[in-house]
Amino acid sequence: MHDTREWQALSDHRQALDGVHLWDLFDGDPQRGERLVAETDGLLLDYSKNRLTDETVALLATLADRAELRGRIEALLDGEPVNTTENRPAWHTALRQPDPPTEVRQEFDRMAGFAAKARDGRWEAVVNIGIGGSDLGPAMATAALDAYFDANLEVRFLSNVDGAHFREAIRGLDPARTLFIVASKTFATLETLANAFVARDWIALHVDADQVSSHFAAVTANPDRAQDFGIDSGATFAMWDWVGGRYSLGSAVGLSLMIAIGPDAFADMLAGMHHMDEHYRTAPWAENLPALLGLVGLWNRNFWNWPTYAVLPYSQELALFPAYIQQLDMESSGKSVRADGTPAPIATGPVVWGQPGTNGQHAFHQLLHQGTDIVPVEFIGFCRPTHPLVAHHDLLMANLFAQGEALALGASDTGDPHRSFPGNRPSTVILGDQLTPRSLGQLVALYEHKVFTQATVWGINPFDQWGVELGKIVAGDIGAELTGSAEPDPGRDSSTQSLINRYRNHRRGVTR
Ligand code: F6P
Repeated sequence: MHDTREWQALSDHRQALDGVHLWDLFDGDPQRGERLVAETDGLLLDYSKNRLTDETVALLATLADRAELRGRIEALLDGEPVNTTENRPAWHTALRQPDPPTEVRQEFDRMAGFAAKARDGRWEAVVNIGIGGSDLGPAMATAALDAYFDANLEVRFLSNVDGAHFREAIRGLDPARTLFIVASKTFATLETLANAFVARDWIALHVDADQVSSHFAAVTANPDRAQDFGIDSGATFAMWDWVGGRYSLGSAVGLSLMIAIGPDAFADMLAGMHHMDEHYRTAPWAENLPALLGLVGLWNRNFWNWPTYAVLPYSQELALFPAYIQQLDMESSGKSVRADGTPAPIATGPVVWGQPGTNGQHAFHQLLHQGTDIVPVEFIGFCRPTHPLVAHHDLLMANLFAQGEALALGASDTGDPHRSFPGNRPSTVILGDQLTPRSLGQLVALYEHKVFTQATVWGINPFDQWGVELGKIVAGDIGAELTGSAEPDPGRDSSTQSLINRYRNHRRGVTR
């Protein structure tokens, strides 16, 4: 793409914007804030506070056409093998079709039956064991939909292979009334298995042997391994190889969420996702929220060369949303090789970070306002709260709008360099009516398709993640060296070698 006419036109256009301040763009154009927005199904995207003009949007649209984005979207939504390095579809959108493939419908019905039983009083807690896509989606969504949590039990999430997380996950729970869901597409992930085994030991210590398996359910594309672990097929829910981990919230990976909010609310979330899928498929680029979010992000990344962006939800319920987007975006777009195997000639995925406002304002916003790096921000907020503390909500949202304005416009020069706010710092606002299962579904699909839009222009495959494999292999080798079942490899670098030796020496002194 970087060698096309369309890319060059954007580069030239970007040069022409040198020295243009956001306040010039707003001053000279009173309609800007009403025009550079897009809306669907009550969700508004305001991208007017980015360093761009109508011409930028038109040029970005020509780039999308040059990248054949429309055809790629069709291929994605039609279940074609868009995950080319693994030769399979990335068909998460099938999970949320109103009339989905039979196996999807059947699995949803099985989940709904299981969730109804789980909510009927036998359990006091459900603990989802999983990591990455088998954790972040349901953990994020369960927190996000706290107001819709209507089960008479607790739902917790155990992911880290750190005994401290297990300790915290079971704190105060009665093993006799605890259900574990082992969520793992592969059923081979080290962290998840280590936690599943220790959970099984904990249950076995407290209940009759013939009862242990009734405390476990599984979500996996590898039911044989779940069975070997001792989980009944009746409590094992399918995933398919065409659902990527970080795209799996709408699958049985969302079982813990469904237990928390019930099947109807879960279906509402799927409907919100589906709405966004169809919007993405059909809306012209200038009205297309995922395409715009992706193209503006690409404009900031490739033409302004800003290496990171922040996702700042002004919603405590979305506290885990930045972490969720970190996996979605960085595991998808952190690639330096294109789908055809050639090196990526231009920058790809930016670093994503963030946490909820207003907490971030008292932590890192200093850098956003006055730091030497420009960090484009994506603010997320809602007009109506899910709680009755309306005055709190007004304060919260006043801060969101104030941050966007202050970043964009800064403040006139006071003569004191320490108190000077240059402004001209870009941000985008995603404003919903209220955080509901449906709007959460829209948000998730919005970001999924944002990532797809960018990957399409960059020519990378957003659906594989080979980069995480090397670390797993090395950790396996080092693990054996730490426990003494293998001798330290003298071929290691001197830093790693001496760290391992120090650990081995100190580990011996550990009392259990
Ligand atoms: O290591 C990364 C990863 O492969 C993610 O892509 C995935 O979501 C996670 O591990 C968990 O994998 P699984 O669901 O197979 O346990």
